[in-house]
Amino acid sequence: MKSIVVLISGSGSNLQAILDAVATGFIAGRVRGVVSNKANVYGLERARRAGIATTVLDHKAYADRQSYDAALVAAIDEHQPDLVVLAGFMRILTPNFVEHYQGRLLNIHPSLLPKYQGLNTHQRAIDAGDAEHGCSVHFVTAELDGGPVILQAKVPIFPDDDSESVAERVHEQEHRIYPLVIRWFCQNRLQQRSDQALLDGQVLSKHGYADDDHQE
Ligand code: GAR
Repeated sequence: MKSIVVLISGSGSNLQAILDAVATGFIAGRVRGVVSNKANVYGLERARRAGIATTVLDHKAYADRQSYDAALVAAIDEHQPDLVVLAGFMRILTPNFVEHYQGRLLNIHPSLLPKYQGLNTHQRAIDAGDAEHGCSVHFVTAELDGGPVILQAKVPIFPDDDSESVAERVHEQEHRIYPLVIRWFCQNRLQQRSDQALLDGQVLSKHGYADDDHQE
């Protein structure tokens, strides 16, 4: 049974999807702890309801990124995790942090990476006139939103959409693909080899498993 620590900054709907998937046995793991950089976010309430240990580490109480991330590592490693899951954790991580968890650090990002790294992804996709958008689960590397993609899900963008309606559609897909990828990890099917993700020993293409093109 793999030990998982989830990092959040907000409402934690992805955390909830993961907790639900653990509860049904879809994910053969246990969420040992939830860490938030913000107090009073709803994700903490979700964790408490599930009887999971929570830690709030306010980044504003630390002099710099290095000292914050060192404290974060200490809080996470109390749970000796096999896997660390970023679920709406809105912090840029230091290279030391990323290196410490290399191969066992996952993130979900609300775009079809490598498109729209960073913030405001839904509005940027609408402004660009994109007909499709989506989300990506990837291993985290030192490059922000740049690590190897494991799985993406696409959603349409309709002419009368705004960023909220698109976000809602993307969220629905996030709640499907994140538990699935975590399930694979817990089944020992998923590995990171520097800038590549492998599923069942096969190198995944640039857009991850279920890539339309299978070109790389
Ligand atoms: C999710 O949409 C996730 O993709 C995004 O934050 C949201 C968190 O929602 N993450 C990022 O933008 C990371 N760069 P949640 O708190 O309801 O899970």
